Amino acid sequence: MESFNDFQSLGNYELLAIGVGVILLGYAFTVLRKPISKVPGPSYTKFTDVYLKYIDMSGRRPEYVHALHEKYGPVVRISPGHVSVMDPAATQQMYSVKKEFRKSTWYQDFVPGPSSVFSTVDVDYHRRHRRLLASEISESGLVIHRPVVDSKVRLFTERIAEEMEERGVSDIYRWALYMATDVIGELSFGSSFRMLETKEENQYIIDLKSVSFAGGLRATFPTLMKVTKYIPIPVLSLGMAVRGRLFEYGAQSLERHRKLVEEQGDDAKPTLLSKLYRAREKGDETLPFTELRMDAMSYITAGSDTTTNTLTYLIWRVCKNPDVKAKLVAELQTLPADFGDQDLKGLPYLDMVIQETLRLHSAVPSGLPRVVPAEGATLCGHFIPGGYTVSAQAYSMHKNPAVYPDPTKYDPSRWEKPTKAMKDSFVPFGGGSRICIGLHLAKMELRLATARFFTRFPNSTVSTLDGFTDKDMEPWSFFLMSPKNNRCLINAH
Ligand code: HEM
Repeated sequence: MESFNDFQSLGNYELLAIGVGVILLGYAFTVLRKPISKVPGPSYTKFTDVYLKYIDMSGRRPEYVHALHEKYGPVVRISPGHVSVMDPAATQQMYSVKKEFRKSTWYQDFVPGPSSVFSTVDVDYHRRHRRLLASEISESGLVIHRPVVDSKVRLFTERIAEEMEERGVSDIYRWALYMATDVIGELSFGSSFRMLETKEENQYIIDLKSVSFAGGLRATFPTLMKVTKYIPIPVLSLGMAVRGRLFEYGAQSLERHRKLVEEQGDDAKPTLLSKLYRAREKGDETLPFTELRMDAMSYITAGSDTTTNTLTYLIWRVCKNPDVKAKLVAELQTLPADFGDQDLKGLPYLDMVIQETLRLHSAVPSGLPRVVPAEGATLCGHFIPGGYTVSAQAYSMHKNPAVYPDPTKYDPSRWEKPTKAMKDSFVPFGGGSRICIGLHLAKMELRLATARFFTRFPNSTVSTLDGFTDKDMEPWSFFLMSPKNNRCLINAH
C-alpha cells in the first residue's frame, strides 16, 4: 500500500483488521508500560488472568503459583493485577499490624452479603469487631471452654474405636470433621448438630463440605455470580443455596442461644459471643446482634474445615513415620493418667509435630490477597503501584528450601531450634492485624485430639483397605485445602 489511493481501495474487512490491529497494539503498548509488566512472570500474565482462573477451578493454585516462584524467583506476576511474593521480609511488610495493606474485595466475592470479622475490607469495622471478640477467644479466655472441647475430643476417639470394631478400619477425616464442627458449633451457638452423637451426615455437614468450593467459584467468577440472579446457572445457584441454608441455620441457633442468655442470665452456657449479648445492660461496649450473627457464621466456616484437615494430615503423617510416632508416644507416656490441655502445653515434641503439620499441610495454602496502599510499595526490589493486589502463599513460604532444608520431608525435629527465617516464614494462620483469631482454639483442639488419639491408639498405621492409598491424600484447594477424596483410612490400634 504505497499511496492514499491504495488505502482507498481496501475492502471493509481489511480496514476492520487494520483497526483491530491498531487497537491491540495500543492496548499492548499501554500494558507493557505499566510497572507491573516489569515484574518477572509468564508473558501471558501481563494481559490476562484466564489461565489463573482455569487453574483455580482445577484446585491446583498453590502448586501452580509455587512452580512460578521456582522459575521466576521470590516476586512473580500471576495476573495483570496480582503479584505473588515468597520472601520473609516482604511477607512481614504486607501482613503487618502497623502499615495496613487492606484485604482485597476478593473476600466479599468469596463470602458475599453483610460483612463479618473475616470478610470485611473496612479497617475500622474490622478493628472494632476484632477488639470486642478477641478476649473470649484468647488463650486465657478459652480456659473456661476447655471442658467442651475435651468432651468432643473424647467422643472423637470413642467413635474411632467403634468404627474399628465394626469395620476393621476408621475414617479419621470423617470423625475429625464431626469433632471440629461440633466444637465450633457449641462454642459459637451454644448448641451443635451433635454430629459425634448422631453419627449421621446431615444437610449441614454436606453444605459445610461444599462451602469452600462454592466460595472459590464466586470469587473466581464474580461477574457470573451477578448474572445468576437473572439467568440460573445450576452449579452457581447451588453455591448460593448452600450459603443461604448455612446462614439460616446460624441465625436460628444464635437467636435461640441469645434468648437462653436473656432468660438465664450469667448461668447460661457460655459461648465465645455470649458476653457480648448482655454487655449493653452492664454499660459495656458491644456489637449489634445482626453483626454478631455474621461473626458467628465466620467462626463456623473458618473454624471447621481448617482444623479438620490439619488434624487429619497430622494423624496420617505420624502413622506413616514410625520414628516420629515412637517419639511422640514416648513423650505422651510421661503424662499423668488424668492429663488435660494444661499438661500438653509443656510437651515440646507434640508442639513440633503440630508445627510441622501446619507447615507442610497448611489448611489455607493459597495467597491471602491484600491491596497495596495508595503510595505504592517496594517488595524485594520491585515497585508495585498503589491499588494492585499482592499476596504471599503459605504453600510457597513453607517450602522455601533456603529456609526449610529438604522442604517436602515431614520432619518435626526441624523445629527443635528454629532459625529467625523459619519463624518469619511460618504463616499457616496468616499474619498482622488479620491473623487467625481462632488460632489458640485450633491449637487446643489439635493438642488434645493428637494426645488422646495416640495415647489410646499408639500402634496405629495407615490402612490399605478399600483401595486407600497416598493418592487419596493428594490435596486440592479452593482457598481451603482438603484431601481430594475426603477420606483417610487408619488402622487405629
Ligand atoms: C488449623 C486451623 C486453622 C487454620 C490453619 C486457620 C488459618 C487461618 C488463616 C490463614 C487466616 C487468615 C485469612 C486471611 O487473611 O485471608 C485465618 C483467619 C481467620 N480464622 Fe482461622 N484458621 C484455623 C482455625 C480457626 C478456628 C478454629 C476459627 C474459629 C474461630 C478460625 C476463625 C478465623 C477467623 C474469624 C478469621 C478472620 C480473622 C480476621 O480477619 O481478623 N480459624 N485463619
